[in-house]
Amino acid sequence: MLAEASYFGSSMSKTSPHAHTGPCRTPSNARTRLGAGGGPHRAARCRAPCPRGRPRLTESGLSMVDWHLVKGMKPPRTQREWEAEFRKYQQFPEFKILNRDMTLAEFKFIWYMEYSHRMWGRLVGLAYIVPAAYFWRKGWLSRPMKGCVLALCGLVCFQGLLGWYMVKSGLEEKPDSYDIPRVSQYRLAAHLGSALVLYSASLWTGLSLLLPQHKLPETHQLLRLRRFAHGTTALIFLTALSGAFVAGLDAGLVYNSFPKMGERWIPDDLLAFSPVLKNIFENPTTVQFDHRVLGIASVSAITALYLFSRKVPLPRRARIAVTSLLAVACLQVGLGISTLLLYVPTPLAATHQSGSLALLSTALWLLSELRRAPK
Ligand code: HEM
Repeated sequence: MLAEASYFGSSMSKTSPHAHTGPCRTPSNARTRLGAGGGPHRAARCRAPCPRGRPRLTESGLSMVDWHLVKGMKPPRTQREWEAEFRKYQQFPEFKILNRDMTLAEFKFIWYMEYSHRMWGRLVGLAYIVPAAYFWRKGWLSRPMKGCVLALCGLVCFQGLLGWYMVKSGLEEKPDSYDIPRVSQYRLAAHLGSALVLYSASLWTGLSLLLPQHKLPETHQLLRLRRFAHGTTALIFLTALSGAFVAGLDAGLVYNSFPKMGERWIPDDLLAFSPVLKNIFENPTTVQFDHRVLGIASVSAITALYLFSRKVPLPRRARIAVTSLLAVACLQVGLGISTLLLYVPTPLAATHQSGSLALLSTALWLLSELRRAPK
């Protein structure tokens, strides 16, 4: 999926507010908290931003320093073209600060990772636009469906542009910073948010077309259940969006204990920044705290939704959907806690990210099972 691929491809954060310079970016206050047990994990994570230390897709997002929709599809072929591409990369902060000793072969590796990610994005764009144009020409689309299709194709293009806008923030020179060049966490969250909207809209359109609708009696209880399910889905969306800030600021590394944050339920640097609002988006401690609270609130809301749904007569498919939602939520929270306790190993973080899509999909499935039948 374009959304997920793009997001993975650029998951790089920016300067930590816990002043810290140099390539090893575990925030300074975190280092004391991690304690002796954190040593090996911390060392592993500190190496992580180095493309040679770990081929995580997220570390290659800044290797292609320009973007052309058509021209960008042709990779360099000759040695001379590769050298020219490498010289371009050398003008940007990631090379200057992090990868000064990178060889051409190593550059080719990260370049191809980003290239395949961008080509995947183009393929996803085509997978939307080509069938849409074909169906349109054949006259197979109803009037409302034409609106849906146009909106989805527009969102795909917007997603691509947003991806480039995000990457650009990681290419900018920041005169007084020696920190690892990273994309803005705001743009990262916007990119993930728009990816989730695109994904949700596509899934919703598909489910509306494919799933036969139930003729549910419009009781008071059903109305309440439907409203509750809508609110819970919005909460899941918000939790996922807050996860982008955690990933963007490497905030999964500031307190690696659960349920308490270090020794405390509410850490003392929660509001260390001024003005207070800035903490919500820029202080890794607050960002992690918010994500925990939202994650726990999501799973609590889903449990309550499940219990409430038991009192409402529902068709079999809707029952399966609500039970699955509870199961996926428990799994997702378990994955989130494990990611935190194990100092954010890449495979687990990636599974946790996919888990958020699985959770959102199941919530949308439930909404689709509960939707009002047309009169
Ligand atoms: C409904 C529950 C949850 C949802 C939907 C959710 C979703 C997400 C998403 C979308 C990300 C960004 C993933 C990435 O880009 O790598 C994320 C990151 C993260 N989440 Fe959650 N999360 C949930 C619960 C939790 C809980 C309860 C915890 C721990 C207490 C947690 C810990 C983390 C950590 C440590 C990261 C950072 C991973 C990284 O740096 O790559 N999450 N979450």
